[in-house]
Amino acid sequence: MNDTPRTYPRTVNCNGTTVELRLMRPDDADALRAFVATLPEHDLLFLNRDITHPKVIDAWGEAIAADRVKSLVAVENGVIVGCTAIVVHDLFWSRHVGELRVLTSPRLRGVGLGRLLIQECFIQALEMGLSKLCVQMTVDQQAAVASFEGLGFRAEGVFRNHVRDRSGVMHDLAILSHDVGEAQARMAAFGMMDHLS
Ligand SMILES: CC(C)(COP(=O)(O)OP(=O)(O)OC[C@H]1O[C@@H](n2cnc3c(N)ncnc32)[C@H](O)[C@@H]1OP(=O)(O)O)[C@@H](O)C(=O)NCCC(=O)NCCS
Repeated sequence: MNDTPRTYPRTVNCNGTTVELRLMRPDDADALRAFVATLPEHDLLFLNRDITHPKVIDAWGEAIAADRVKSLVAVENGVIVGCTAIVVHDLFWSRHVGELRVLTSPRLRGVGLGRLLIQECFIQALEMGLSKLCVQMTVDQQAAVASFEGLGFRAEGVFRNHVRDRSGVMHDLAILSHDVGEAQARMAAFGMMDHLS
């Protein structure tokens, strides 16, 4: 990979649907709220933050403005259909580790958008100097587990009854991780870096 910073927006094709990927901006708050309103209750049950709460979206915007979080949005015809976040805790002993969050619109799942967003996040993580990305999900989020495992993430551990969903039910939490350098090597081996550049 060359040293030129990745530029956005980028246009990608998800199985026939044209989507623009760009950096999230603080003024995306209203569009993000509209996106969150399209998410099924099942997704919201498992998110580690209640993103339906206005304070959470406002805090997200503030974190982006302060460069504490890197986020992308996927936009189709002016409407947000996906987003990512890489959260780094700067003053923490794991500051080489980014916590990755990815969400795609249920309307566009299974057409490759999640994979493209996660691959973009690998590139962003490299640019941020991170060496590892972690993602948290409950073990019963089978589509999410399959998506991340398909991209080379591996389970590092399971915390029993670590998540209490919005209806009060307990779930086991899985932490999956991926070495960022290894991800770059895998993408290069499959010719994806060229495809993505
Ligand atoms: C996880 C998520 C981002 C995947 O997004 P997506 O747009 O459907 O992903 P893709 O279409 O790129 O599919 C990625 C891979 O997962 C596989 N996959 C997707 N849905 C699947 C399902 N229901 N069952 C099994 N595999 C599935 C795809 O086959 C694909 O594998 P491949 O590239 O080897 O063919 C999406 O399901 C989501 O937003 N879930 C809710 C939020 C969440 O749980 N996020 C993860 C924790 S932060």
